[in-house]
Amino acid sequence: MVRTIAFCNHKGGVGKTTSTASIGVAMARQGKKVLLVDLDGQANLTGIFVSADQVEKSIYNALVEKEALPIISIEKDLELVPSDLNMSAAEVKMSGLFNREMRLTHILAKVKDNYDYVLIDCPPSLGVVTINAFFAADDIYVPISPEILPLKGMMMIENVLEDLREAKPELAITGVFITRFDSRKNINKAVEEEVRKQYANVIFNTHIRDNVSLSECPGANCSIFDYDTKSKGAQDYLNLTREILERNK
Ligand SMILES: Nc1ncnc2c1ncn2[C@@H]1O[C@H](COP(=O)(O)OP(=O)(O)O)[C@@H](O)[C@H]1O
Ligand SMILES: [Mg+2]
Repeated sequence: MVRTIAFCNHKGGVGKTTSTASIGVAMARQGKKVLLVDLDGQANLTGIFVSADQVEKSIYNALVEKEALPIISIEKDLELVPSDLNMSAAEVKMSGLFNREMRLTHILAKVKDNYDYVLIDCPPSLGVVTINAFFAADDIYVPISPEILPLKGMMMIENVLEDLREAKPELAITGVFITRFDSRKNINKAVEEEVRKQYANVIFNTHIRDNVSLSECPGANCSIFDYDTKSKGAQDYLNLTREILERNK
C-alpha cells in the first residue's frame, strides 16, 4: 500500500526540503519506489535534483491549469514532480477554483499506486497549497528546528487541522522530528525535551544534527547521500528513514 507523507511547517528554514530530499533518496536506495512532490514556489527540492532549464512544466500546470502531471525520473526508484516560480502565485490563482483544497488529492490518486511512498515538500505557509497536501496525505510530519520555543507554531498547525477535520476526521500530526540539533546549545536541549514531552506519541527517536554537509549539499545540487555519505547528516537521515519504514511495516 502506498503511503503519502506531507512534510509541513509554516516556518521556513526548519528542514522540510532537506528532509524530503534526504528521506526520499534513502528510501529509493533501499528499494522503495518513491515520488517526490515539490509544492513550494522556491522550488528548492526541484533544484537539488534538476536544473531550472530541465523544468518545462511544473506542479503548477497540473494543480492550477489542469494539465497532465509532469514527472521527472531522477534515478532508479526515484521520481520528482517539479515546482517552479509559478507556484508562488498558486495561492492567489487557486482561490477562485472549484474544489480547490482537493485538487492535489485527485491528481495524485491517478499515479500514486505506482509508488511505495509519495513525499510532499510543503511551502512555508498554511494556505490552500499546504491544505491540498494535508488532504492528499496519509501522514503529516513536522520537522522542528529547536532554535526558539516552537510550540506556539505547532498550535497554529493544530488549529488548521482542527478546522479541516470537519472534512477529514483522521487529520492529525502523525510524526515530529527535531532538525538542526546542536548539543552545545542549551536552548536546543530544552526545546527537544519539551517537544518530546508534548508529542511523546508521534516523535521520532532520531534527531537530525546540525551538520555542515547538510547545509552545503543544496549548493552542490545533490542530496546528502551523494555529497557526503559518511557525514552525520547522512547517518541521521538514514536512521530517521529506517524509523519511518519501520512504522509503516
Ligand atoms: N541539519 C541541518 N544542518 C545544517 N544545515 C541544515 C540542516 N537542515 C537544513 N539545513 C540547511 O538550512 C537551510 C534550510 O533548510 P530547508 O530544508 O531548505 O528548510 P525549509 O524547507 O523548511 O525551508 C538550507 O540551506 C539547508 O541546507
Ligand atoms: Mg523548503
